[in-house]
Amino acid sequence: MPRLTIAIDGPAGSGKSSLAKRVAQILGYLYLDSGAMYRALALKALREKVALDNSLALEDLARGTHIELKPPTPEQEAAGSKNRVFLDTEEVTQAIRTAEVAQAASRLATTAGVREVLVAEQQRAGAGGGVVMEGRDIGTVVFPRAELKIFLEASPEVRAGRRWKEHQEKGEVMTPAQVLDEVRERDRRDRERKVSPLVRASDAVLVDNTAMDVEETARLVVMLAREREKELSTAAGREL
Ligand code: CDP
Ligand code: CDP
Repeated sequence: MPRLTIAIDGPAGSGKSSLAKRVAQILGYLYLDSGAMYRALALKALREKVALDNSLALEDLARGTHIELKPPTPEQEAAGSKNRVFLDTEEVTQAIRTAEVAQAASRLATTAGVREVLVAEQQRAGAGGGVVMEGRDIGTVVFPRAELKIFLEASPEVRAGRRWKEHQEKGEVMTPAQVLDEVRERDRRDRERKVSPLVRASDAVLVDNTAMDVEETARLVVMLAREREKELSTAAGREL
């Protein structure tokens, strides 16, 4: 069977990471979280006090930074980690999961030069297929020829509720209203930016999982992937 490139895009808290991770597990594919790369770079910018509106400095920072995604250890997987994230050899898997880093990531993600560097990394990491990559521009910019594209949606209230629960579990004090504001602000910035805005690719399947759990959503996407695999192998057979 051909090994597909699967692109999953959608707003914050729509369930992209959980879905992409589960689909990759079922299909035996590589899972890559592109947002973790923007978050890792944002963490470095915050630590080095690089202004988040200084495009040139941010692009320089991106060019001088090495970010790597690796599969989690069994303990990290049990604790909910999906990709291990390394920033210039330091592991930052947990450190990037704060609301402050998320906001900073969405601000530096508006810089074209930063995106150019990270998109090239993502294309290298996912080259060869057999990969599920999730983010905001995977189906539109990173892998516009992906064989299966999913645009994942859920209502803002449900998405913020999911994020709030995660913050609670980690002991990060935020009210539900603060989390909803954070998610709404990031959504607006991600959808309205000039470069690679969050938008559904015209050939992406829209999946609203407001009332679906991760397992149900994964079953649906795996079914679509199996259909695509079959279509592609039938088409390849016809060409022989
Ligand atoms: O990657 P993204 O921000 O789109 O979402 P996520 O990190 O996969 O999901 C955020 C939280 O919502 C996680 O704790 C998931 O377990 C939960 N979730 C859920 O309860 N039901 C879903 N259908 C999808 C995610
Ligand atoms: O997990 P959540 O959906 O909250 O965010 P994320 O996927 O970790 O991404 C953090 C931020 O990085 C987003 O709000 C986007 O601004 C940016 N991002 C992007 O611009 N392009 C991507 N392919 C992935 C993330």
